[in-house]
Amino acid sequence: MEIQNPDSSDSCFPKVKSWGGIVLNQFQGFWFLPRYLLGTKQVLDHYKPLPNDVILASFPKTGTTWLKALLYSVINRASINQLVTNHPHELVPSLEMQVYGGPVANSPPHFPSNTSSSASIFSTHIPYQILGETLNSSDCRVIYVARNPKDTLISLWHFENSIYLGQKREPQPLEDIVTSFCEGSVTFGPYFDHVLGYQKESLERPEKFFFITYEELKSDPNVHVKRLAEFLGCPFVGEDMEEQVEEVVRSCSIETLKKHEVNNSSVVPSWTIVPYKSLFRKGQVGDHMNYLTNDMIEQIDAITREKFRGIDLWG
Ligand code: A3P
Repeated sequence: MEIQNPDSSDSCFPKVKSWGGIVLNQFQGFWFLPRYLLGTKQVLDHYKPLPNDVILASFPKTGTTWLKALLYSVINRASINQLVTNHPHELVPSLEMQVYGGPVANSPPHFPSNTSSSASIFSTHIPYQILGETLNSSDCRVIYVARNPKDTLISLWHFENSIYLGQKREPQPLEDIVTSFCEGSVTFGPYFDHVLGYQKESLERPEKFFFITYEELKSDPNVHVKRLAEFLGCPFVGEDMEEQVEEVVRSCSIETLKKHEVNNSSVVPSWTIVPYKSLFRKGQVGDHMNYLTNDMIEQIDAITREKFRGIDLWG
């Protein structure tokens, strides 16, 4: 087995020093932490999606954890209590970070065993521009969650600062992440190209790609959970249909999930560098208004307008 430090930058790829001094490698137009680039290459080389597979794709900090809980609950309705003792990231593992992204390069794939249904659910942050061919090689279905760029950025800032805090390092200035985010040089960035890649596919092939925003889901979770179940071919039925939907939404709410001991844990799992509890913060829409200056908002809005050209996802 090849032993390679998954955190050392790969000299074959262009490099950038992102905010906080993090070194990222560029691969096919996107920026990766070296360890996730290794995992991504493993996914591209080895993952052959089965027709029943369900893939949750997202840019980091856009609601991945929430969607993991929801997808798991919708598909494995009878096992919804698994959420009490398992973190959503254990129930729905990441292809490039967990399944094919072990602590050393070429670790054997690690498939989840917590599912009671025939469908395997995986998550990924790999952009469509890179993973598209793999996704299109079977009838697997893809759900993409997108989030307002300003709230995504603020969530990312808090998340990364919680890592720095754990390493007894100073929190990073907000200006630095605004610059890196707008330039695209953040993990799995550019954010804008990431969203557009999956959004375009969802317009062309809505039967395969389900696109939803964090904000839509927040504003009317029951409606969108029903849509999600229909898309996945497992609609809610029966006289108590509304109660079933209600139960899924309640079980997956940030308030409920935060109460479970497993989600409050400060233990850092081997596949990542963060404790599970840092995946749950406020879960609010518009939190960026508490942090960004008017100039920062204008800077992000300007690049959003330029990149999204007429595509109005957030009004
Ligand atoms: P905030 O930092 O704005 O609170 P990801 O899972 O992609 O890393 O995204 C993390 C963001 O989703 C964080 O946002 C987190 O608080 C929020 N989140 C986590 N679980 C959630 C849930 N069940 N419902 C709504 N938001 C949730």
